[in-house]
This record gives sequence, structure tokens and C-alpha cells, in this order.
Amino acid sequence: MPVTIKSAREIELMRAAGRILGKIHQDLGKELKPGMTTLEIDRLGEEMIRSYGCIPSFKNYQGYPASVCVSVNDEVVHGIPSDRRALEEGDIVSLDMGVIYKGYHSDAARTHGIGAISKAAEELILRTRECFFSGIRYAVAGCYLHQISAAIHACADRYRYGVVRDLVGHGIGSHLHEPPQVPNFKKRSRGIRLRPGMTLAIEPMINEGSGSVEWLEDGWTVVTRDGKWSAHYENTILITKGEPEILSITEDEITEGIWIPKGAAE
Ligand code: MF3
Ligand code: CO
Repeated sequence: MPVTIKSAREIELMRAAGRILGKIHQDLGKELKPGMTTLEIDRLGEEMIRSYGCIPSFKNYQGYPASVCVSVNDEVVHGIPSDRRALEEGDIVSLDMGVIYKGYHSDAARTHGIGAISKAAEELILRTRECFFSGIRYAVAGCYLHQISAAIHACADRYRYGVVRDLVGHGIGSHLHEPPQVPNFKKRSRGIRLRPGMTLAIEPMINEGSGSVEWLEDGWTVVTRDGKWSAHYENTILITKGEPEILSITEDEITEGIWIPKGAAE
């Protein structure tokens, strides 16, 4: 399957999917509190997804049993929601969700702190987001894909964090996973040349310690090998001639000035 250029109609649908997913992330993030189980998060997330007439894209994807990937502390991604895992004050929890709206996908992840968290955990979350934003400075038509990868890697290096290499970002559209793969680490090759109309899910997974990970017995949950904590920040973006559009950005992130959408400047 080649890397596709989305039509104007497809872009409109992906904008709609992204807007919905951003809203769900924002709303679900505010529901998190100590004592809540990871299964309750999944139930609530799925309810929200369906309330917009969307389908949760992860549910049954290659056998994944839930709608929201809920990964706590040293869990990197693909944590399976469980009624035996309750959030505790001081935890960090990564929520990864995908929606399908009228046949088009959006995929995004955020890491949240539960109550008061350590300074180190707070920094890990903020700097993982910073890695994403360092990367997308190169998410511009005419740049090469692996410039994004190298910029994410350089940002993580600056903080002496480990970059997860065993999982990568991806193209996205009428399928959750489309080519190209989007690594979060420096490559020897430059990758494809970016063109307007390409849509990518860029998703740095950044570890406080080493980038090395392993899979739990459940076949899904990815954890750090050294037991140190991990954060995840992902958005679905659209390549344009100028700055990218972040389709799954949340309204709060715009209000807080974390991202200023094109044309929104005064
Ligand atoms: N953001 C993740 C990815 O792109 C989510 C997929 S998890 C699965 O791979 F549950 F759908 F498998
Ligand atoms: Co993804």
C-alpha cells in the first residue's frame, strides 16, 4: 500500500474525526481520579466515543479487547483495562484512543498525572509533549519524514530520556495504520518527502530511563525493562504547504497556548 494523499473530502472527515477525539481526550482526562479502575476509564471512553456516532477503532483490532489503551507508570502503551487495577494518587496514566468517523480514523494519546505527582513525573509528561512539538516543526511539505524522527530523538536526548524504538507512529486515514512508519529516533535514511494531504499519527513514547521495553504475558502491555516510568503523546496531523494542522489537538491546549492553529493569530 502506497502513502496516500487525502482528497479535500477525506481531509474534512479527518478534521471532524480529530475534533471529536480531541474533545473526548479533554473530557476523559478530567474524569480521572484516585480509586478509578482502568476498566472504568475504558467504559467511559467507549461511551463518549459512541455518543459522537464514532466507532472505537482499537476494539478488537488484532484482538485487542478494549476501546482505550490505559497504561500506568512503567507501562508504555497498550495496557489492557482491568477492574483489578485502580489508579492511585501520584500515578501517571497514558490514555491512547482511536475513533472512526464516517470511515476515517483519528488516533491520539495523552499522559495525565493522578492528583499530586512527583516533579520528575511532571517533567516527563511535559517533555514528552515537547518532543512531539519539536518533531512537527519538520512536518511540512518539502521536508523529509525522518527529520521529524531525528528532532523527536534530539529532544529526548537533551533530557537524557530513552526513546522507545520497538513501536513507531504511522500514516492514518481510512485505516488506523497506513504507511509510512514514523520512528521517534534518528534514522540513517531521510525517509519519504512530505507532501500536502498526507496524514500522520506522530507518537513519541519516552522513558525516564532506557528506551528498552518488553511485552507482558498478556501479549499486549508494553513495559519498560528497567521499571522506570514512561509517557506517551500522540496526535493525528495533516501535512500542508506551511505549518501542519494538528487534527486531534484539544481546545484546552489551544487555550493554554500550547499550539496556536494557523489563522487563529489575532
Ligand atoms: N496508538 C496505537 C497505535 O497506533 C494504538 C493501537 S493499539 C490497539 O498502534 F489496541 F489498537 F492495538
Ligand atoms: Co497510533
